[in-house]
Amino acid sequence: MRVLLVGSGGREHALAAAIARSPELTALWIAPGNPGTGALGTNAAIAADDVPALLDFIRREKIDLVVPGPEAPLVAGLADACAEAGIPCAGPSMAAAALEGSKSFTKEICDIADIPTAKWERFEYPANALEFIRRRGAPIVVKADGLAAGKGVVVAMTAEEAEAAVQDMMADGSLGDAGRSVVIEECLTGEEVSLFAFCSDETAVLIGAAQDHKRIGDGDTGPNTGGMGAVSPPARFGRAEQEAALDLLVRPMLREMVRRGTPFRGVIFAGLMLTEAGPKLIEYNVRFGDPECQALLIRLTSDLLPALKALASGDLGNAGISFSDEASVAIVMAARGYPGKPARGGTITCIEEAERLPSVRVFHAGTALREQDGALIAAGGRVLTVCATATDVAEARERAYAGVRAIRWDDAIWRTDIGARAL
Ligand code: AMP
Ligand code: GLY
Repeated sequence: MRVLLVGSGGREHALAAAIARSPELTALWIAPGNPGTGALGTNAAIAADDVPALLDFIRREKIDLVVPGPEAPLVAGLADACAEAGIPCAGPSMAAAALEGSKSFTKEICDIADIPTAKWERFEYPANALEFIRRRGAPIVVKADGLAAGKGVVVAMTAEEAEAAVQDMMADGSLGDAGRSVVIEECLTGEEVSLFAFCSDETAVLIGAAQDHKRIGDGDTGPNTGGMGAVSPPARFGRAEQEAALDLLVRPMLREMVRRGTPFRGVIFAGLMLTEAGPKLIEYNVRFGDPECQALLIRLTSDLLPALKALASGDLGNAGISFSDEASVAIVMAARGYPGKPARGGTITCIEEAERLPSVRVFHAGTALREQDGALIAAGGRVLTVCATATDVAEARERAYAGVRAIRWDDAIWRTDIGARAL
C-alpha cells in the first residue's frame, strides 16, 4: 500500500512509526513531515492545508490511502477531493468536519440528539452577548464560533473577563471571522478527559482515552497550549467508562449525522468533562489529539494500516485494532518562550540515549536539520514528545521523565507533573 500521511507534529511522527511497521506498506510519504517522519518515509514539501497540491501529489504518486493528521486539511475539503478522485481517505468530509469547525453546529447536534453538554446560547451581536453575561454572571465560558487554533475559548472567572472576551472577539475582531459570532455557555467542573474512536456511519470502535495537560505550567497554571503532556488511561476512566461514554456522547451524534445525509467517517476525539452529574461533552475534534495520539499509539499491539484502510473505506467490522493493558505517559518538551515566541535554533542531542532506556520513545514535532551540518535543532514551539509505557502510571512517568533528562537541549521547558493526578 502506498500511503500519504498529512501533517508535521508529534502526532504524525507517532502515526508514521505505527504505519511504517506494517507489512502491507510499500511506500510512505509525509506532507510536510518533520525530521522524525523523514527517517521513516519520504517527506514531501507540501503544506498540510494545500488541498490542490496534495491532490496533485496523490495522483502523481498513485497513493492508495490518505491519512490526515490535523483538522486543517479536513476543514479545507481534503476528504471530499479524495472521494471525487476515488482515493480512500481516513478522515471526514468538509460537512462532517464542521463538528470541529463550528461550535454552534456541534451544540445544535447535541440538543437534537440529546447529548449531555453545557447549556449554551449563540450570539451575533455584542450587545446581546454582554446583556446575557450580565444576567447570568460568572463563571461563564465565551467561545468563538469558528476555528481559532486553540485561542478561541475564554473560561471567565468574572463577568468583566467574559465581557472583555466578547469585546475582543466580536467588536475588535481579534480572531477575524472565527469570532464574529460567539457561543456562551455554562462552566462545567470536573476532570477533563479525551476519548478516541474510529467511526463510520453509525459504527464507533473504541480506541482509548487519555488526559491532556493544556496549561503551560505545573499545577495547571499559565496560558493554554496545544497540550504539554498526556497520560493514558486517565484515573477512574477505564474501558467500561469509555464504552459508556461512547454510547452517551458519540453514537447519538453519529446517528444524527447519518440522518442529515452527512455521515461522519474518521477519528473522533470527544473532549469531555466528568462532572458530578456524569460525563458531559465539551467538544468534538475530527482527528487524533496531540500529544494524546502519541500516548495511545505507543501501546498499540496490532497493525494500524489495515485498520486505517478499513476506516477509510467505511468497513469498520474489519478494523481489528488492539492495545496492551499498560499505562503510558507522554511528556512534551517545548522551547523556552512557548506558547508565545519560542527560542529557535538550539541544538538537540542524545535522543538515541533516551530511546535506549526501557520503553522510551521520542517523537519529533518542531525540529529541523541545520543546513550547514545536518545537526538537529529546535524549529517550533512544541519540539519533542517523550513517551514511555509500564504496568502502571507511576512507573511509566518515571521512565518518561528519565527519557526527558537524557536529552541534551539547553532551551527545553517541560511540565514536571504530567500524570501526577492519575496516581
Ligand atoms: P476548546 O477550544 O473547545 O478545546 O476549549 C478549550 C478548553 O476550555 C477545554 O479543553 C476546556 O478545558 C475549557 N472549556 C471549554 N468549554 C468549557 C465549559 N463549558 N466549562 C468548563 N471548561 C470549558
Ligand atoms: N491536545 C489537544 C488537541 O490535540 O487538540
